[in-house]
Amino acid sequence: MCGIVGYIGARDSQAVLLDGLSKLEYRGYDSAGIAVFTQDGLRVSKAKGRLAVLAEKLEDAPLKGSVGIGHTRWATHGKPSDENSHPHTDKTMKFSVVHNGIIENYMELKEELIAQGVHFVSETDTEVISHLIAREYDGDIVKAVQRATEHMRGAFALGVLTEHEPDKLVAVRFASPLIIGIGEGENFIGSDIPAILQYTRRVYILNDGEMAVLTKDAVELMTIEGNFISREMIVVDWDVLTAEKGGYDHFMLKEIHEQPKAYRDTMRGRINEDRSGVKFPELKGLTPAKLSSIRNVHIVACGTAYHAGLVGRTLIEQCVGIPVETDVASEYRYRSPIITKDTLVIVVSQSGETADTLAALREAQRNGAHVLAITNVVGSSVAREADDSIVTWAGPEIAVASTKAYTSQLIAFMLFSLYWAQSTGSKDTAWIGQQLAAMESLPEQVERILEQADVLKDVAEGMAKHDNMFFIGRGLDYAVALEGSLKLKEISYIHSEAYAAGELKHGTLALIEDGIPVIALTTQPTLVEKMVSNIKEVKARGGVVYAVTDETNVAGVEKAVDGTFVLPATLPMLTPALAVVPLQLISYYASLARGNDVDKPRNLAKSVTVE
Ligand code: M6R
Repeated sequence: MCGIVGYIGARDSQAVLLDGLSKLEYRGYDSAGIAVFTQDGLRVSKAKGRLAVLAEKLEDAPLKGSVGIGHTRWATHGKPSDENSHPHTDKTMKFSVVHNGIIENYMELKEELIAQGVHFVSETDTEVISHLIAREYDGDIVKAVQRATEHMRGAFALGVLTEHEPDKLVAVRFASPLIIGIGEGENFIGSDIPAILQYTRRVYILNDGEMAVLTKDAVELMTIEGNFISREMIVVDWDVLTAEKGGYDHFMLKEIHEQPKAYRDTMRGRINEDRSGVKFPELKGLTPAKLSSIRNVHIVACGTAYHAGLVGRTLIEQCVGIPVETDVASEYRYRSPIITKDTLVIVVSQSGETADTLAALREAQRNGAHVLAITNVVGSSVAREADDSIVTWAGPEIAVASTKAYTSQLIAFMLFSLYWAQSTGSKDTAWIGQQLAAMESLPEQVERILEQADVLKDVAEGMAKHDNMFFIGRGLDYAVALEGSLKLKEISYIHSEAYAAGELKHGTLALIEDGIPVIALTTQPTLVEKMVSNIKEVKARGGVVYAVTDETNVAGVEKAVDGTFVLPATLPMLTPALAVVPLQLISYYASLARGNDVDKPRNLAKSVTVE
């Protein structure tokens, strides 16, 4: 968690750092801080709370200088406070560090440093790093950082400055993401590309165990052991606007509206022109022979990505007919799953950096499974470590609440299930072609749903007055109900539960009382009659039921409910890619109606890089 940024060049570094941090606030926003070389030496300014608090403080007391590091924090060790904010310094105030990650042995190191006379001013694990570097310094900051890291266990992306060598910025990556931006007479570090995109598109992505030494005119890359390395420079083709709000009030709303493009981009180049099948030239390890040898599948992910995995389970089972289990990544390792060389483990992660997902990936590989990653970030840890990966071309997702990343994951699962079916012959070409034709209509169908946002705004404003809600569904609709419920809780703070509709009467029906809003998903033709019975059970107890149904099923549903939203008709297997969109909009407008910070919900961060 946390975002780090660094600058060395000729500009006013305070402005560059604040700008970079504003693009990284999705990684945490408990506090923010910067350290800059000023004419009076290395100076730090930091403050608890959003970046705006720091920006205000700096307006009154600016830090002037052209070299600096910055940090936006998601608290792990120590509560959000000014003292626990980064950057951290040593007792001489000559060394300053920003850190993303966790130093697992920090207590041990802290005790050692205290015994050596060091006085700590914060409760963080990071502060040990600045003291360690100061202790190891003997005139060469690069060597001091290398020696300090030898003592550290855990995850760390670091930006380090010392007043002794003000022409250098040192960056290290170990199990937390870090990129280097290359400019003309200036260079940058950042946790993610949007942080530097306004200044340069040319980047190096550091791998674990690598570091970079930046001056304003050069970047040297080396391993933590000090062996120089060369790396291909990547030219990022995102435009600055893509990483900004583009005229929408919130990133979430922009990202909801970007879904038709995300669907098209994720499908682009992967469907044969005559719709005879799917192409995945990037899947070098998952050859048809390898796919034929797979006996079972485990899908592992967290949060919204886990919900995409629940849909993926049904898709693979229906298309290929082999058993699939879906697990929450933080639980997967602890149930001792039966993994063999014939197991395919699919890890799903927007960021590609989620700690639990990464740990599950490694566990699966240790046990001999083939790992396929579905991720939105090329070059992320998950993408690099998996045996094969499918990129979802959703583009940068900034809002904490995942929308276009989720639906692109659904598209990736649909394509992959069809690819597998065609490789093993479990479905014929005509059936696959029919699914692909329907998939190609999805972007335009989502556009039609988005045109009805105002209707959903009214519905959401009514629901926002309640403190409890339910989502119910059967089959694929249940998987979508789980995602709708998570989205609502996450940003509106309305307590909500998603239930398999048939399970309601086994306990939870006791919670249904007069006026409670219930969203019933009813898109599966074979399950509509049973859903209507469940809806009636809810209505008989006073629940107010709003159905999300489609043109195929509306006739059987509308008389039983208090309101309906009708989706365009598609094939049953593809409905999640449409049904979730009104639920995203309802959550968005409910959050807005309650006056919440839609893009940065309380207590959460976009990228969860701690277990
Ligand atoms: O980056 P990942 O897809 O691995 O993130 C997993 C979850 O943290 C994420 O999907 C989270 O549940 C979303 N913020 C929910 O909107």
